Amino acid sequence: MDVEKKVNEIIELSNRHLSKMYRKYYPFIPERAVDDIIYSIDGKPYIDLYGGISIANVGWSNSRVIKAVEDQLQKFFHMPSIYYLDHMARLAKRLAELSPGGHLTKCFFLNSGSEAVETSIVISKRVKKKPYIISLHRSFHGKTYYAVSLTGQANWKLDLAPMAPVVFAPDPYCYRCPLGHEEYPDCGLACARYIEDIIKCEIGNYASAFIAEPIMANGGMIIPPKEYFKEVKRVLDKYSILFIADEVQSGNGRSGKLWAIEHYDVVPDILITSKALANGIPISVVIYREEYDEFLVPGEHYSTFGGNALACIAAEVVLDELINGLIGEAAEKGNYLIRRLNELKDKHDIIGDVRGVGLFIGMELVKNRLTKVPAKEETFKFVNEAWKRRVLVGFGGLEGNVIRLEPPLTIKREHIDYAIEAFDSILRDIK
Ligand SMILES: Cc1ncc(COP(=O)(O)O)c(C=O)c1O
Repeated sequence: MDVEKKVNEIIELSNRHLSKMYRKYYPFIPERAVDDIIYSIDGKPYIDLYGGISIANVGWSNSRVIKAVEDQLQKFFHMPSIYYLDHMARLAKRLAELSPGGHLTKCFFLNSGSEAVETSIVISKRVKKKPYIISLHRSFHGKTYYAVSLTGQANWKLDLAPMAPVVFAPDPYCYRCPLGHEEYPDCGLACARYIEDIIKCEIGNYASAFIAEPIMANGGMIIPPKEYFKEVKRVLDKYSILFIADEVQSGNGRSGKLWAIEHYDVVPDILITSKALANGIPISVVIYREEYDEFLVPGEHYSTFGGNALACIAAEVVLDELINGLIGEAAEKGNYLIRRLNELKDKHDIIGDVRGVGLFIGMELVKNRLTKVPAKEETFKFVNEAWKRRVLVGFGGLEGNVIRLEPPLTIKREHIDYAIEAFDSILRDIK
């Protein structure tokens, strides 16, 4: 069958049988992926600056991950957690050792980010026994019921109301400070201090936990200021509220540290991660302080595929790859990519802001630098034009005007350079 016919057939089948809820960017059909390149069905290579939405941190088709999974495939794919499982225990030990400050030593494994979010709330409520959770405006925590309730983006959830009991604090988005301040640190971290007002005025002593992405992905690649989480933690400790760090996307080396919260010198009480942990094999985990076990009962929480053997085996290799060099590469390549994007910012007024930590990078497009009106249509056009030039990027933000760059940490410098050239020509045309 010729390629064009095959392409049409796949698209037609998808449109006929897949839910309308799937959103497509453009008619791209990946066939295989190696390192930082995704090959389309017609054999053309695309530079991947989105990593399958921050999945392929150790590179697509990483040979060490493949070898480990192939070996495990010969033994068994999955065993239930009613047995003692070597692969689960080993990965839990590794994650405990690598947790921030080594303080979070207990693990519960699941399959998706949303499921880990739900479980972190379950644990918080069993420990603290209070109804409310505090979350952030513009945050994204997933699509299951509590996860979507915690998500600070109304357009994705209002039709599902009523939501679970959540109150929202202002997002630490310095480029568009929700409290109207010009600059950090002149703002005195008003957004962090606002949490105390929420406690005093809205929920009193009825919150079990505060949940936040240490760097916010979907909401627009928002990087809180340096002292933000220290101030937040001060408030939380005063009222005995747990801090859950949602590292589903920001974790696993992407930010140039294993966990993004490590940039803030704060130890969360619970950390959750997923996405890149097994480089694409579904896995998620909730890692928490040992003392919470006192409030938990065997059998009261369960997930059939949680702790899946293939995923755990892959995750161990991923952590090795990250620790043995790739995290450092993320920091160094991220600095390079951010510098190159700032050069583009000097040339193109449509770029309002470039921000990033490691290879977690956002480029915000605006119609006018003074008014900062979001350039939403231009952003979508940028994403499409990049694809036509064979560079894959993502986009996000409440207003849909932030280009998201989250490549495999193995990205090659010459591929970054190629992408920058492509961006330059797109931005010239968009003007
Ligand atoms: C920070 C964060 N939390 C939770 C989720 C939900 O993860 P999943 O789609 O695996 O349920 C995501 C997904 O993008 C995320 O970025």
